[in-house]
Amino acid sequence: MHQDNLKSSGLRGMTAGKTALSTVGKDGVGLTYRGYSIEDLSMYAGFEETVWLLFYGKLPSQQELTTYKEKLKKLRDIPEPVKFCLEKIPATTHPMDVMRSACSLLGDIEPEGSFEHQYNSAERILASLPSMLLYWYQFSHHGIRIDPLTDEETLAGHFLHLLHNKTPTADHRRCLDVSLILYAEHEFNASTFTARVCAATLSDIHSCVTGAIGTLKGPLHGGANEAAMEMIERYQTPAEAKNGLLAMLEKKEKIMGFGHAIYRDKDPRNNIIKEWSAKLAQSCGDKRYYPVSEIIEKTMWEEKKLCANADFYHASAYHFMNIPTKLFTPLFVCARSSGWMSHVMEQRADNRLIRPSAEYIGPELQKWQPIESR
Ligand code: COA
Repeated sequence: MHQDNLKSSGLRGMTAGKTALSTVGKDGVGLTYRGYSIEDLSMYAGFEETVWLLFYGKLPSQQELTTYKEKLKKLRDIPEPVKFCLEKIPATTHPMDVMRSACSLLGDIEPEGSFEHQYNSAERILASLPSMLLYWYQFSHHGIRIDPLTDEETLAGHFLHLLHNKTPTADHRRCLDVSLILYAEHEFNASTFTARVCAATLSDIHSCVTGAIGTLKGPLHGGANEAAMEMIERYQTPAEAKNGLLAMLEKKEKIMGFGHAIYRDKDPRNNIIKEWSAKLAQSCGDKRYYPVSEIIEKTMWEEKKLCANADFYHASAYHFMNIPTKLFTPLFVCARSSGWMSHVMEQRADNRLIRPSAEYIGPELQKWQPIESR
């Protein structure tokens, strides 16, 4: 890219490193993890199988997958000092801030030590993030000290079980499982790039994930699913939604859940989660949120030629599973931490400090002025 175009480029179109983990394809129209399409993964795989694929580079055998699920299940507990600290965090704290602190605290109590332990640390982080989030949530909101261990086989089931204190339905469990697969990995997005920059300094894995959580929190990145839900909830009918949206566009407001830095015509993850949203809408008898979502999607395309991104139908799908809106982005963390940590391991395997240059636009060399003469 020519230097003149750097002004507001946000590094678009610049190759900042190599990865074998995922690609949006040369034309930016598909998404594959280690060569497997997101369509196949969300149809045939589970989240734990996807994590194995990302971490170890190939699909697990049945035996490997069974053993892996058992291993992750045993890693869900929370160290007592972390529980103690989580109990001190008020209910008003943003759950993404809780996630950021929880990951960092885990690193205080169970430091990675050396890179030889990176898989163990990664699996521990992955398995305990939902427990730590929901321990804080249930304690701060309902005064309940939950047992962070459940018999649920998958992270999706475990999350829903801890949240609702009951066994989730098969549809809810699978919908969340698919959602975790869709959110698991996405090349050099902003939070992943944060994790890689941190990893390239040879810092520990908890620091990499903590930094990435902070980046994902921003509304232009992971926070969009919550903002999309807040918008959808404003409207009772499709007609009201269309008018409201047109008014927002008139005022040049950003519509959360639309547009993408890479995808222009469609986000391949959108159709998959949209189908799940439709299915859950039907099973819970929704006559409001899904039709409102559809008219917003249609109008955004007609008016702005902007496609719904992965976050938009996640909003209604999560809502239909009775997941509180404030937990939407933390769920994204539970999924994307697998991608972040895969990138940390990949960066470490062929590392060089990431240190770009800046085009200096400040003043020329100035003559020093003593303080009395300023
Ligand atoms: N609502 C309204 N207009 C939007 C828009 C949105 N969600 N996304 C992009 N646009 C507009 C921009 O204002 C810009 O218009 P302009 O040329 O008149 O200034 C044009 O479309 C091009 O968009 P641009 O900002 O260059 O795209 P980008 O690649 O820099 O940004 C996003 C990508 C994702 C940051 C951006 O689309 C956005 O902010 N979306 C909403 C947040 C979101 O859903 N994030 C989740 C991403 S997975």
